[in-house]
Amino acid sequence: MNKILSKRKLSENVNEYVLEAPLIAKHAKAGQFIILRVDEDGERVPFTLCDMDRTKGTITLLIQSIGYSTHRLAELNEGDYIHDVAGPLGNATDLSEFGRILLVGGGIGVAVIYPQAKYLRSTGKAVDAIIGARNQSLIMYESEMKEIVDTLYIMTDDGSYSQKGFVTEKLRELINGGEKYDAIFAVGPLMMMKAVTDVTREYGIKTIISMNSVMVDGTGMCGCCRLTVGGETKYACVDGPEFDGHLVDFAEAASRQAFYKEQEKEHMCRLRGKQ
Ligand SMILES: Cc1cc2nc3c(=O)[nH]c(=O)nc-3n(C[C@H](O)[C@H](O)[C@H](O)COP(=O)(O)OP(=O)(O)OC[C@H]3O[C@@H](n4cnc5c(N)ncnc54)[C@H](O)[C@@H]3O)c2cc1C
Ligand code: FES
Repeated sequence: MNKILSKRKLSENVNEYVLEAPLIAKHAKAGQFIILRVDEDGERVPFTLCDMDRTKGTITLLIQSIGYSTHRLAELNEGDYIHDVAGPLGNATDLSEFGRILLVGGGIGVAVIYPQAKYLRSTGKAVDAIIGARNQSLIMYESEMKEIVDTLYIMTDDGSYSQKGFVTEKLRELINGGEKYDAIFAVGPLMMMKAVTDVTREYGIKTIISMNSVMVDGTGMCGCCRLTVGGETKYACVDGPEFDGHLVDFAEAASRQAFYKEQEKEHMCRLRGKQ
């Protein structure tokens, strides 16, 4: 059982949770994730370790409510307990071979680029970041990111804040404007990551993405998070979650992500008491 030490609403449907988890905090590295169950009968759902404090023995998660388990989590408050949290899982991100790095986060993807920004800065790297969201109310961790990176660019689809447009437009603008990056690390919805890789392929810039495949065990045994990278079968939980974005088969990943749509819909209907 892991106690919720604090809960903070970041946007309409995203909450930040600080959980008591000393063993995970002790071993966790940027890029890794945990799998939790809200209660004993709950499904296993993965979330990135957005932050960790070894001294306090805490981990921080940013959780977007989109379906059954994440809505159940949103009902929990400070002082409540999560049934179990397993981790750290997956591989730590290794961008050490690159010089100047641009991080690109779409929506909840900021939960993955924030720990990366923090880690990269601690190693003295030059880091810029673009964060994007549909509108101003969905922009998260702006001040936290600003504190860390050299320059933070914000994009909103509707122009309600900062610059109007998609993260890919800013990306193209920066590259065409003469900014030189040795690598791009992009995290967000699958189609956003594909769009980023389409742009960077044109310019020959190495692009790493973090795959949010459906996961169950998180240990490479169930096969649920299978994907194809450079023609080879990989498992996001043990081989990733980060991969070379130019080698990922996005069409296959998108179809696998939609595999359980009907069951997810049924789950939500039950939660809302419609069945
Ligand atoms: C490595 C990794 C890190 C992630 N980090 C974060 C994070 O930091 N913050 C965050 O809000 N979300 C994160 N996600 C996505 C999160 O796991 C899903 O939003 C969550 O599982 C949805 O569960 P649900 O029951 O609420 O929704 P459902 O209605 O069950 O599903 C909604 C959608 O979420 C995805 N999903 C459902 N079940 C799983 C599962 N077991 N594994 C992965 N995806 C699933 C599918 O795309 C699905 O269509 C991460 C996913 C992965 C794989
Ligand atoms: S989640 Fe089961 S193999 Fe990756």
